[in-house]
Amino acid sequence: MNDDLQPIDPSELAGIDPTGGLDELLIFGHPGTRRHFLKQVAGTSAAISLGPALMGIGSIEAAETDATSGGNASAAVTHVQLRINGRDHKLEIDPRTTLLDALREHLQLTGSKKGCDHGQCGACTVLVNGRRINSCLSLAVTHEGDEITTIEGLATGDELHPVQAAFLEHDGFQCGYCTPGQICSAVACISEGHARSDAEIREWMSGNLCRCGAYPNIVAAVKEAQSKTPAKAS
Ligand code: FES
Ligand code: FES
Repeated sequence: MNDDLQPIDPSELAGIDPTGGLDELLIFGHPGTRRHFLKQVAGTSAAISLGPALMGIGSIEAAETDATSGGNASAAVTHVQLRINGRDHKLEIDPRTTLLDALREHLQLTGSKKGCDHGQCGACTVLVNGRRINSCLSLAVTHEGDEITTIEGLATGDELHPVQAAFLEHDGFQCGYCTPGQICSAVACISEGHARSDAEIREWMSGNLCRCGAYPNIVAAVKEAQSKTPAKAS
C-alpha cells in the first residue's frame, strides 16, 4: 500500500506534533488554512447558520488581537460603579466584561443564568432602568448610572414580588434554570402593557426559552401577576 494511504495512529500525533498544528494540517491541509477558511466563510449563509460560537471566528480574531498587542489585552482593567438592586458596587474589571459576567463572577449574584451567552435564550435577562435586556450581550462598563435590577432584587424582604409568587402558584418552572430570566422578563412585560392576553404574553415573552417546556404554566403565572399589577397608564 502507498505510504500516504497508511492510517495514522492518533497516539503518535502528540509525539510528532506537541503543538497540535498537525491537527489543523490533517483537517484543513495547512495550519494557516483554518483561519483563512473561517475568514472566507464569515458572512456567508453557512456562517449565519452555524453562528459565531461554532465557527470560532470571534476567538480567532481575539487571539490575533492579543497576539498583535503582545498578549497584554487581557491585563487591561477599568473601574466602574454599578448600581444593582439599590446598592452601589465598585468594580475593577476587564472592559470587555459583560454585565452578566460582572454580576455572576464579580458580585456573586448568580441568580441571572448563563444559557447561550449569545442573546438567544433569555436566561440572563435583567432589568436596566425598568427595561429588560440580555445581560450577556451588554458590557458592564456601559451601565454606570443605570438602575439595574436582578432576580435577587425583586422581593421586598420576605415578601415575594407578585410575579415570583405567581410562578410558584402556577408551577411556572421545572428545572428552574430559565426561571430568573422568565420572571425578570415578565415583570417588564407586564409593566410595558404587553400581557393582556395569552397570545400577547407568548409573543412578548418569546425571547425567553424554556427547555423544560413549562410554557402553559408560565403564561398562566404571567396572566395572574398581570391581573394583580396592572400596567401603568401611558
Ligand atoms: S445567556 Fe444571554 S440570552 Fe442566553
Ligand atoms: S424550567 Fe427548565 S428550562 Fe425552563
